[in-house]
Amino acid sequence: MGRPAIFWDRDGTLIEDRGDIADPSEAVLMPRTKEALARLRDAFDFYIVTNQSGVARRTITREQAESVNARVARELDVRNVYTCPHRAEDACECRKPKPFFLRKAEREHGVDLARSWVVGDHPSDAELAAAVGARAVYVLSGHGGKHRADLKTACEVVDEIGAAAEHIACAHAADTLRAGGLVAFPTETVYGLGADAENEAAVRRIFAVKGRPETHPLIVHVAGGAALDGWASAVPDVARRLAARFWPGPLTMILRRAARVPDAVTGGQGTVGLRVPAHPMALAMLKHFGGGVAAPSANRFGRVSPTTAQHVRGDLLGDVDFVLDGGACAVGVESTIVDLTGAEPAILRPGGVTREALEAEVGRAVPVRTGGEVRAAGMLTSHYAPRAEVVLASPDEAEPRAAALRAQGRRATSIVFRGSAEEAAHGLYAALREVDAGGFDVVVVGVPDERGLGLAIADRLRKAAHR
Ligand code: TXA
Ligand code: MG
Repeated sequence: MGRPAIFWDRDGTLIEDRGDIADPSEAVLMPRTKEALARLRDAFDFYIVTNQSGVARRTITREQAESVNARVARELDVRNVYTCPHRAEDACECRKPKPFFLRKAEREHGVDLARSWVVGDHPSDAELAAAVGARAVYVLSGHGGKHRADLKTACEVVDEIGAAAEHIACAHAADTLRAGGLVAFPTETVYGLGADAENEAAVRRIFAVKGRPETHPLIVHVAGGAALDGWASAVPDVARRLAARFWPGPLTMILRRAARVPDAVTGGQGTVGLRVPAHPMALAMLKHFGGGVAAPSANRFGRVSPTTAQHVRGDLLGDVDFVLDGGACAVGVESTIVDLTGAEPAILRPGGVTREALEAEVGRAVPVRTGGEVRAAGMLTSHYAPRAEVVLASPDEAEPRAAALRAQGRRATSIVFRGSAEEAAHGLYAALREVDAGGFDVVVVGVPDERGLGLAIADRLRKAAHR
């Protein structure tokens, strides 16, 4: 199978459309172009296909058009630029929407057109994609708004290149899952390492990559509450209420599993963990995919969970087929896991939905049942740990104790959370990772108050401190 590619239109898509541009200094990148392309670079080769009819009209020379191409290609690391210098009346064989250049890229660079995309601000860009069985994204930048009424080809329509890149990335993540691949994806809590939940071989690869024991079950991520009955059986009313109240959001419900859930996902248990994540890119990926995505956090077993795409790349690069980059996770600690298979709901892992909010919805106290029998990986007493030793203290004592350790010759630092519990949760894992990156061998952490999100933070810190 060849590499997938993205064929970008130049004027009005990558750079501002200023008519015939004769000089590279006149080429102005659209806002967000660099970031947009950065999200896709690992998975796609980039090409530009551009009609430069000014050459035939003699308003610019071919050399001038090509000097502008060269500057854009260099700045954006584009593999090849295909330029048609003719006018529509010339009826040449390479002018868009004729697929001449796409076929050439297929032949000369082994591009897999079926997994490729065309992005442009003219209906001919969408027709170009359709002509070779590729997909298109139509941008309303440049002349996109003006020509929109002429757009007859089915394709995604977005405002600008950043949204185009996001759409392609989410669809590519779904394609990768469908092909049995592993995708790291953002959620509102932490990044997940996902596989098609119904593909046992793909699910087993997750355990291999994470180094996680196969008996520790995975959460199945779905696109909406409507999937409850497809993945669980004998769903109690309280589960429907919690889904309506907290999904999409950081709540995982443990329910009796439906027959389609393979043993590889549940570790052979008769229950399944289900969750609808709130990150828009996770939801878009799940909608494109259509099925369930089994995913633990995208870190090696026992280590600190990743809350940025860079964390994931640092931990797992080479072992994942695609990293869907959705920026920093908003919540920063994992979902709350609620067991709904017993007589009464119980919290197995405190997380992004607070105990207080859960109790308000359930209408009575919900006990926290961590520790005891180890049913879940996140319930092992040692977990979420940086390489440095973690020592817990009250917020006031943390820095003085770190200073005392330094006086004894240890490379010690401290973490004290100021501000809200939400801010503390958001920065927790990044702060623990920085301890390792800074070369410290011990960190003294001030444990916050256990109300609200503080309960989840304190839980993670106790596990990180346990050796
Ligand atoms: O926020 C989250 O929950 C993140 C994101 C990626 O969704 N996921 C996550 O997955 O933290 P993981 O695998 O690192 O932790 C999930 C926990 C594990 O402790 C697992 O054993 C438990 O959920 N779990 C999954 N299915 C279960 C089941 N059927 N019964 C009991 N525990 C279960
Ligand atoms: Mg254009």
